[in-house]
Amino acid sequence: MLTIIENILDEKQVRDFRQKLEAAEWIDGADSAGTRSVKVKQNLQLPRQNPLSVELGNVILRKLGNDPLFISAALAEKIWPPIFNLYQDGGHYGTHSDAALMRLPEANMTIRSDLSATIFLSDPDEYDGGELVIEQQYGAQPVKLAAGEMVLYPSSSLHQVMPVTRGRRICAITWMQSAVADVSARELLFDLDQSIQALTPDRPHDDPEINRLIHVYHNLLRRWAAV
Ligand code: NI
Repeated sequence: MLTIIENILDEKQVRDFRQKLEAAEWIDGADSAGTRSVKVKQNLQLPRQNPLSVELGNVILRKLGNDPLFISAALAEKIWPPIFNLYQDGGHYGTHSDAALMRLPEANMTIRSDLSATIFLSDPDEYDGGELVIEQQYGAQPVKLAAGEMVLYPSSSLHQVMPVTRGRRICAITWMQSAVADVSARELLFDLDQSIQALTPDRPHDDPEINRLIHVYHNLLRRWAAV
């Protein structure tokens, strides 16, 4: 399942990000790819230790931590510091799967990547190509979102970024470890939570059926979560 979250960054934030990123010093993204991925990866990246990367990454992390749809869909336990990358002049990233275990030595942190996320920082009309194509059970789905929007997808999916044939595609990417590793269990919890959220405003406060659904939600979460 793909989850699209609108307005992770508002217009003003996107403008601020873009202004700062346009002036940044980008390096070859192949430096951070695995030995196999390096053959298919052709983009530019902001070094993780770059103070700008840390500053903007923290803005994103704060927004994620306050976004109800993200919280419900990801049930994130650990989130990788966001990475910024840039595709231009035919830059692309061929079909690959993301590493299952990712280690961040400076934070003494290891995460299992359950979910991957891309936050688009360029608008679709600024560049040609550059779709994020995610292979799913029912076929490949191209994703190209407005600046400030995010797609969340299972890290277990094969995916690629199509060549950017005009303009520049700037985005942020991150990964997270979910409290619920199993994709189908996580999706059931998400559906249940979304229905509870949708039903609640029309029901009286302390509605017994809503209370029972919340009870079921938390007991399923208790059964499936590993923290
Ligand atoms: Ni990837």
